[in-house]
Amino acid sequence: MSMLYHIKTYGCQMNHYDSERIEDLLAPLGYKKSDRPEDSDLVILNTCHIREKASEKMYSDLGRLSKYKENKIKIGSDLKIVVTGCVAQAEGEQIIKRNRDVDFVLGPQSYHKITELLNKKNQEKLHNFFPKESKFDYFPKTETKNISAFVTIQEGCDKFCSFCVVPYTRGPEFSRTVNEIVYEIKHLSNQGVREVTLLGQNVSDYKGMYQKDGKLEKLDLSKLIDKISDIDGINRIRYITSHPSDISSKLIHEHKTNMKLMPYLHLPIQSGSDRILKKMNRGYTQKNYVDIVTKIKEVRKDFAVTSDFIVGFPGETDDDFLQTLNLTDKVDFAASYSFKYSPRPGTPSSLLKDEVPESVSNKRLQILQKKLDESQKKFNNSFVGKKLSVLFEKRGKKSNQFVGRSQYLQPVHVNSDESIIGKILDIKINKVEAFSLHGEI
Ligand code: 5AD
Ligand code: SF4
Repeated sequence: MSMLYHIKTYGCQMNHYDSERIEDLLAPLGYKKSDRPEDSDLVILNTCHIREKASEKMYSDLGRLSKYKENKIKIGSDLKIVVTGCVAQAEGEQIIKRNRDVDFVLGPQSYHKITELLNKKNQEKLHNFFPKESKFDYFPKTETKNISAFVTIQEGCDKFCSFCVVPYTRGPEFSRTVNEIVYEIKHLSNQGVREVTLLGQNVSDYKGMYQKDGKLEKLDLSKLIDKISDIDGINRIRYITSHPSDISSKLIHEHKTNMKLMPYLHLPIQSGSDRILKKMNRGYTQKNYVDIVTKIKEVRKDFAVTSDFIVGFPGETDDDFLQTLNLTDKVDFAASYSFKYSPRPGTPSSLLKDEVPESVSNKRLQILQKKLDESQKKFNNSFVGKKLSVLFEKRGKKSNQFVGRSQYLQPVHVNSDESIIGKILDIKINKVEAFSLHGEI
């Protein structure tokens, strides 16, 4: 009988990519995926440490898993509990202390060890070091049925924004080689993938080695995108996440000349106040940010920008918050995420004393979210009666309904048949519902 495993992924797209790689590693061992942790032989929690809420959720899930493990042991069986991801990196020892039922804790750069650990008895529980070898060398070829796929091209961060745990949990910046990335994407394309999203905490700072005819050179993100554009079958390219300080004129030029590169950029600003941006160690001002957006829109008018915001950073005054609101009037964001500041252990800003009262942060978050939602609705509504280019990915919830993404990443629904999956079609938009669009071919 095959072994069952259940995997739960918290947080960002890179964690989702990592979970898929863990699935690829488990398949050859005979493990089958299950939706039911209570019946599984192995449960993996792939965790996120970015805000406190995300890590607390993991501890409460672990409590539930202990019960399931107890039940399985009673019937002479077992449930192995493995914690991976950024909480594993940051709080490995605490996890083992707080829950003795956890079998292994594996950091984001050492989870390829999972196969070896599952095969042996009485192994060391904690594996959250940064190993010399690259985990990417251990992954079998990715199997997918998806039309759109994520590919990690870069990991880690050297920016050290004062609020952020990523430089500590994911480690220093590391770029995969161009050859390795192109090889992975060719394999995805052969399986029917038509769109790739290049992933990294700091993709815009990508610097990867490229080897051809015995020559070795270092390529940046725009050059990498050029190489990927040459792959047959790959019709759309996206990248996420970028830092405003790394948006080079070469990258902007790439958006002008490369029609496979989508006219879309997720560019977190975090705050509109120069004073707070400085305290956050972001390395740019509101004006720098607006200038970048202006430059991009000059090369491609039809360009969508999305962003991330943090409210309630220590010392944020009403005036600072007003600067953030002012910024949202200057840039028409197509979509955005906004978060309440969460002090993270080990980060410089967690030591700052001038905390913003919870009630003030809540109020600011509410005001900002309302403005950002309005901006998103305005953006979506501007397409009613117009055409969007949509790559169809899958069936929708209703019969005969199919869903794809526009060039700006908006979900678009149409009534049609299976034959449209994998195709890019012009869709006339008839109406906008909540945050999704509906139209016809
Ligand atoms: N508190 C709140 N939000 C945070 N982010 C990162 N660290 C924190 C924190 N300590 C947000 C930023 C980032 C996004 C991924 O998460 O906006 O861009
Ligand atoms: Fe974190 Fe992004 Fe800043 Fe790096 S650039 S420290 S990942 S917020």
